[in-house]
Amino acid sequence: MNAGEGPHSYVRNSSCQRGVVDVAKPIIEEEIAAKLDINTRQNRFGIADFGCSTGYNSFPAIEIITQAINKKYKSPKNTSKTPEFYIFFNDVITNDFNTLFTSLPPNINYQAVAVPGDFHGRLLPEYSLHFVYSSWSLQWLSAVPEAVADGGSPAWNKGEILYTRDKTLVCDAYLDRFDKDIGSFLESRAVEMVSGGLMALLVPAVPEFWNPESEYTIPSDVGYLLGSSLMDMAKKGRFSEEKVDSFNLPYYFPTPEQLKVILIKNQSFTIERFEILNNPGKHTLASVNARAACFRAVHERLLTDHFGSAIIDELFELYTKKLEASPVFVNPDNDKTIVILAVLKRKLI
Ligand SMILES: C[S@@+](CC[C@H](N)C(=O)[O-])C[C@H]1O[C@@H](n2cnc3c(N)ncnc32)[C@H](O)[C@@H]1O
Repeated sequence: MNAGEGPHSYVRNSSCQRGVVDVAKPIIEEEIAAKLDINTRQNRFGIADFGCSTGYNSFPAIEIITQAINKKYKSPKNTSKTPEFYIFFNDVITNDFNTLFTSLPPNINYQAVAVPGDFHGRLLPEYSLHFVYSSWSLQWLSAVPEAVADGGSPAWNKGEILYTRDKTLVCDAYLDRFDKDIGSFLESRAVEMVSGGLMALLVPAVPEFWNPESEYTIPSDVGYLLGSSLMDMAKKGRFSEEKVDSFNLPYYFPTPEQLKVILIKNQSFTIERFEILNNPGKHTLASVNARAACFRAVHERLLTDHFGSAIIDELFELYTKKLEASPVFVNPDNDKTIVILAVLKRKLI
């Protein structure tokens, strides 16, 4: 995600991802009140946000979680002292943690800790987490599936930058990577969490059925419009077509059914809630410029690493023009991207 707080930063261009926090709030509060089931003798709570980015959308979520825990453990029935919170902010090592720490809200009731590293592996001590949160992050894969980048493979994704529904082998390779990655994420958290701890995962997803003639989803928008903008630039000689062939985005938006199957396979957690939420944040992308700015904030670093920074302005100008010219993609009401809220509970160890 783009660092800092400038015009192209993730902080200034992530209102789409922010939209879901308010919708998730009552469900997270309910689940904490009814199901968080932990030994609180020490009264110390470890809470982690995996994939927190620069914090702008993380802080309101942490506020919701700490208030709900406070309410539960300070109720008259419970005689324990005021809870002490340790918040572990995780993201990749290249994340701009400086912006996160300099923009922490005033008067927070917790100790903030940075945890840089890949959330597909172990990051924290055993039994250190009571509540795990992750929003709009688990769609990121640990790597582009090997087969889609391999010219000799039947799943080679030539000419495209993301899976499309008509290329079944490419879709399968992406789903397989997603399945393994979610498995690794859950295995790692299972060690780090205490028995009875809860996990709230907000995962962007796509419905089983949507009509590509009149509707779209984020992967189809990025795959089609950004991919064809890159191809247009290759045809103009800005870089080779092979350069586009060798570029694939490392993310996958599952269907609800695909995610459910993966979560059920895991032996360490029970599924307490599985809600399909509308994605209210999409209406913040009503202007083509806002949509282009959001996608630029998310994709710029990956594009720069592969194509160099000199192409970025031109690429997003082209993308914006394509968006403007499309009767389907220009209207956020046609965006059928959804968000799944899965609440999992760590089984008794
Ligand atoms: C779209 S942002 C979401 C940020 C924030 N949670 C929100 O709701 O706005 C996804 C974040 O996940 C992080 N991320 C992706 N893969 C990761 C990994 N393997 N380990 C840790 N963080 C990762 C990215 O760096 C990015 O900051």
